Formats: sequence, C-alpha cells, structure tokens
Amino acid sequence: MVYLTRVVYNARHLTLFKLAGLSMQTVQHIFEQNKTPKPLVAAINAVLDASKEIAFLLQKGAMGGVLGCADQENVQGETQKKLDVISNDLLKDTLKACPEVAGIASEEEDFPVPANKDGEFLVIFDPLDGSSNIDINVTVGTIFSILPSNGGDGSDEKTYLQSGRNQLAAGYVLYGPSTLLVMTTGQGVDIFTMDPTTKEFVLTDCQSKITPSTQEFAINMSNQRFWAKPMQNYVADLLQGEEGKLGKRYNMRWIAAMVAEVHRIISRGGIFMYPWDNRDPSKPGKLRLMYEGNPMSMLVEQAGGLSSNGDIAIMDIQPEKIHQRVPVILGSKEEVETALSYQ
Ligand code: F6P
Ligand code: MN
Repeated sequence: MVYLTRVVYNARHLTLFKLAGLSMQTVQHIFEQNKTPKPLVAAINAVLDASKEIAFLLQKGAMGGVLGCADQENVQGETQKKLDVISNDLLKDTLKACPEVAGIASEEEDFPVPANKDGEFLVIFDPLDGSSNIDINVTVGTIFSILPSNGGDGSDEKTYLQSGRNQLAAGYVLYGPSTLLVMTTGQGVDIFTMDPTTKEFVLTDCQSKITPSTQEFAINMSNQRFWAKPMQNYVADLLQGEEGKLGKRYNMRWIAAMVAEVHRIISRGGIFMYPWDNRDPSKPGKLRLMYEGNPMSMLVEQAGGLSSNGDIAIMDIQPEKIHQRVPVILGSKEEVETALSYQ
C-alpha cells in the first residue's frame, strides 16, 4: 500500500494536516490507493452499509426495542440476543443484494446461504461478537472474513472450507464510544472512525502495528482449573510478576468480547487467550475458526503480531466445518512466543 504520509487525525494533528493541505482520507480513497479490485470493494462496502444500520440500532438501545433475548438458540446452542438476529438479517440481506457475493456463512446461520451465482466472493461473519455486552451497554462488534468463491456453489459448505491464508480481506466494525472500522486487504491494517454526522468511515490511523512486547494479558481466569497444564503454568508465571521467571509485572483485562480485546491489542499491545479447556471434550475451544479466529489472525499478523492455536498458526489450519472451534493465543509477537514456549 502506498501512503504519502502517516495520517493520524486527532485535534492537534488535524490542524497540522489542514495546514499541510492534506485532505481527510476515507475508505474509498484507501481502496483506490492500494488498488483493491472493484468487486472486492463492493463486497466490503456491503458489509459497511449493514454495519452502519447496526451502529444506529445499538445507539438507539432501549428506545429501539431491540435489547434482550430473541427466544431462540443458534446452531451452537447459545441463546440469541434480539440484536444478534437483527444484525445477522441486515448483513444477510445487504450481502445477498450485492452481485459480487456468491454466498454467506454466519455464526447465526446453521448452514451457508447462497447469494449470487456469478459472485466472486464468500463473506463469512460474526454479526455481533460479544453480544452478552449489549444489554450492559458495553462494546460489541461485527467481524468479517472474505474468501474467493472460486466458482463454487454458495450453498455448499465445502466451498467455504478454505484456510485463513486464502482470505482476501478481513476486519471488524467496533461499536464502542466511537464506531470504528479496522480492516486489512493483505497490505497492512488501517483504522477508520465513522463520522457520526456523515456516516462516512474516515481514516484515523494507517499501517497500525502491534507492539512486540507487552505487560498486559487477557484470559477468562474463571476457567483456570479446566486448562491444560502448560497454560496453567504460563498464567501462573504471569501472575508471579516481577518475582517470577518472566521478570515483569503484568496487568489483566477481560472485556468478554474478542473484538474489543483484539482492538485493545492492536491499539497498545497485549496477549489474548481463549485456550483449550476440558469443560466439554467435544469442543476444542470456545471461539470459532472461520468467523473469529481467521479474520482476527489476519489482522494480527498484518499488524506484526502472532496468532496460534497453541500448535500452528491459526490461518494454517485446514477447516473441516463452518462452525469449527479453535483454541486461540494471539497478540504481541514476543509474548505469544513466550506463551507458545510452554506448550
Ligand atoms: O464470541 C464468543 C465470545 O463472546 C468472545 O467474543 C469472547 O471473547 C468470549 O466469547 C467470552 O467468553 P466468556 O463468556 O467465557 O468470557
Ligand atoms: Mn463472537
């Protein structure tokens, strides 16, 4: 990707850039700069169109009558929130109407949904990651992954079972204090902030990099007794801080939304883990490979970090099922390497 300069807009920089005569760059400009093929731009824009609607509904909150449960479960046996279902339908309808999209797969759909016969892309998504946060007004996000359809049938699960290395684009829209788009097309990671007035995504940081070392970790500690011994040993050493063999004091964070944890890591480094545990032997992890593990791994690797299932890079896994689960260890390169040295 060719950038003339690193463009960071905050109050101070904005004045500087205005003085320097630089204009605000939007998603569209970035696409033009990095020569993203037009059909791929169309598929990404379809995701963004739906995400703007989702952001609007989230902001309406209780006034929109969209909070609470939907009285139904998804294919993984989890109770769906009303907004899980609404977000899924918005993305599904918008993507089906996009001629470039051959099919979609979603956390909230039991089976892949065919879209357009001649579409070049498959779009896989988690419509609202971290949805237990909705009712407490805490950050959630839409995660997306775009794969080539290779002329395959959008209704056939096999068409979708490609490794993360095949992803043409990946990203998330984060619905927090601001609505952000964090995206890669394989040429680095760019961050855009939605202007609440124009609903346009404006570039606010480009070529984001994850700091290689960190003193911050994220894991659900309540599962400690269920983890495998190597993970227990690693986290025990993190907790020992400067008195233990890692020789530094760590802080812990847990937002319970992978999308927000990954965003923190892209912003200031860290390690995020949802490791294998023995609560349910039929599940190799909690998170899903195709719409959580793979897109987040592409972003993390593109930002200079590492992402592993404890054994191999997540994007090197050959998927066997659309709703396949995967253990996840991702984030700052050196810390992930340390965690992996225990495995
Ligand atoms: O999508 C699954 C998810 O909500 C992730 O976003 C999050 O990291 C994780 O589950 C939280 O799990 P738990 O409820 O076990 O803390
Ligand atoms: Mn999720």
